[in-house]
Amino acid sequence: FKIVKARDYADMSRKAANIISAQVILKPDCVLGLATGSTPIGAYHQLIDWYNKGDVDFSQVSTYNLDEYRGLTHDDPQSYHYFMRDNFFDHINIDLANTHVPDGSNPDAEAACSAYDKMVEEAGYPDLQLLGIGNNGHIGFNEPDDHFSKGTHCVDLTESTIKANSRLFEREEDVPRQAYTMGVQTIMYARMILVVANGAAKAQAVHDMCFGPVTPQCPASILQLHPNVVVVADAEALSLCE
Ligand code: F6R
Repeated sequence: FKIVKARDYADMSRKAANIISAQVILKPDCVLGLATGSTPIGAYHQLIDWYNKGDVDFSQVSTYNLDEYRGLTHDDPQSYHYFMRDNFFDHINIDLANTHVPDGSNPDAEAACSAYDKMVEEAGYPDLQLLGIGNNGHIGFNEPDDHFSKGTHCVDLTESTIKANSRLFEREEDVPRQAYTMGVQTIMYARMILVVANGAAKAQAVHDMCFGPVTPQCPASILQLHPNVVVVADAEALSLCE
């Protein structure tokens, strides 16, 4: 584990963007695993800025997102398809045909998930997987459980995740109750993993991810078994790691 301490959110975002842009510069046709949520937005915006300055070229990059709410169409403003275009893809020179997000609009969970697994496998798995972390230690939508998940699958979101995500919806009732998510095993196939975290609400999860027992009760703790993980977090998120 390499832990990089950032001063604040802006510093965390720049450091994470630096690592992602280095990956794209070193391997212009790399595969990036991407995440949604509030934490990576600053990194995406920094990458857009560097793209506009001519410093990074996404024309050959392909991307696979971790997860999507089940039951939302791709143009639903709450969908992760929409989020990725709005915050990143529409502002860089990536070929949209090379961007992938699980198909939440397909009600057939089995078909949607196995099609996604096949695509990620055929792409050779991400060179770099960007992850946020839930307050309860979830990665993707892999919630605390009694086992680690394998491939892409349909999950019931926990009350704590529904509550945390309700800030982005008008009413808590509007938060979808299910999602399709890459499994923990698929995440572990990425050759490098970059975790971003900021704020005190993440402190316990970040501590447990880095120093707690490896247990599916804290899904992120499995990253201790991955040979190439970088955590970029601000002082508040690292406050229990001193
Ligand atoms: C999003 C995802 C989630 C988030 C996590 C943290 O694609 O996979 O695991 O990374 O819920 O979300 P934020 O960054 O909003 O605190």
